[in-house]
Amino acid sequence: MPSISFDGKTIECDSGQTLRNALIAAGTSPHNGQSTWLNCKGLGSCGTCAVKITGVTHDKTIMEKWRLSFPPHKNSSGLRLACQVIVTNDLVVEKQNGFWGQKMAASQSESNKST
Ligand code: FES
Repeated sequence: MPSISFDGKTIECDSGQTLRNALIAAGTSPHNGQSTWLNCKGLGSCGTCAVKITGVTHDKTIMEKWRLSFPPHKNSSGLRLACQVIVTNDLVVEKQNGFWGQKMAASQSESNKST
């Protein structure tokens, strides 16, 4: 049973569950502010569930590649869409600022450019 470290909590979830569903089932959310209600409900089209993930995951899905390729996102950010990530291993998940969670700290943004 994988665990997710998010927002100061450790969440246990079933392997194979989407990260977004696991977070919501645990009473938290990968969305900021009004995007908690105004989102695509996991279709991978709105981009508001973008998060930074540390840990082993699968490659980006086609929907992630597509949605993270245009503003306010950019492929170089290294962010993932929580609704598209299938949890199979322990993960550390961080939400950035902004409606889409796209506003990374300058130091994080610079480190992602070098990778
Ligand atoms: S909930 Fe819309 S892209 Fe994930």
